[in-house]
Amino acid sequence: MAAGDVARSGHALVLAAGDHLRDTSIFSPAAPSAESIVNLSWLVLAVAALIFVVVEGVLLYSVARFRSRAATDSSQEPPQVYGSDPIEIAWTVAPSVIVFFLVLVSARTLWEVNAAPAAVADGRGTLEVTVVGRQWWWEYRYRRYDGRELSFITANELHIPVGREGDPRPTRLSLESADVCHSFWVPRLGGKMDVIPGIVNTLWLEPRESGEYLGQCAEYCGTQHAHMLLKVVAESPEDFERWLANQARPAVEDPQVAEGRAAFLSESCVNCHRVRGTPAAGGYAPDLTHLMSRRTIAGCSIENDPQQLERWIHDPQALRPGSLMPAFGLSEQKQQQIVRYLLTLE
Ligand code: CUA
Repeated sequence: MAAGDVARSGHALVLAAGDHLRDTSIFSPAAPSAESIVNLSWLVLAVAALIFVVVEGVLLYSVARFRSRAATDSSQEPPQVYGSDPIEIAWTVAPSVIVFFLVLVSARTLWEVNAAPAAVADGRGTLEVTVVGRQWWWEYRYRRYDGRELSFITANELHIPVGREGDPRPTRLSLESADVCHSFWVPRLGGKMDVIPGIVNTLWLEPRESGEYLGQCAEYCGTQHAHMLLKVVAESPEDFERWLANQARPAVEDPQVAEGRAAFLSESCVNCHRVRGTPAAGGYAPDLTHLMSRRTIAGCSIENDPQQLERWIHDPQALRPGSLMPAFGLSEQKQQQIVRYLLTLE
């Protein structure tokens, strides 16, 4: 495949330049914990700027005031000061006070960011999702919402509800890894949280407004780390309920694509992928039960359309070098049948 093809293949299509900058800036927070973090950042920047101005000011003043003058004898050193107690004490105490102040405000921010929202004591309105970091995509296992049990799995595009005044809808993520260390980061919704094999970390998401919030794996995890993107789709409780209802259903069975379905089920696809309601029960690769309800594939890095799906099935390595899915050398007819089948999985 030529380099031009890769450029057109859809990488980063999802993240048009301007949007990307806005959607991943910590300086446009859209949730309480992101706000705490940006406030701390501004405070630290202000303290650092003040120190910079004072130090550079004294330096420039000294350079100007005590510069060598042609008239004076430059071989003579200025008076040297040794062991001045007031100076020693001043430059030990001042930085200690500044550092102690920054430690206190950082500790307060950590507390604010990690604490569970006050309104979730009884679990009402809370969504619980287990996030599994994988090379190189995100698996979301929906567990519970507003007291109801859920048991479906999806990938990369995390749908969550947005609360209202008096009706909070926080999301509690339990983060696990299936392979190496990753880090879950949606800058506008909060801080990074490491995703570590053998450890379960938790993170609360509480967006204030509906919308799409982009994120990124923030810990180097292998070849496709930079393309391990994610998206949080925050929607009103009503829209979220509709999305839930569709996700909870088994896959549609359209008789018009019976050939494609048979082709899919007869190939190795079923060893890794799951399509609920069919014998395909693999738990290793993205769940395809509602594939077409997602706008992207491959860790949000490639647009989910018929052309890209066919190119993906033809040779995943060409689109995403290092991907754990190999090319299976299927005939063109079989590829097209399988794509037609996948397109019905809404
Ligand atoms: Cu996963 Cu970087």
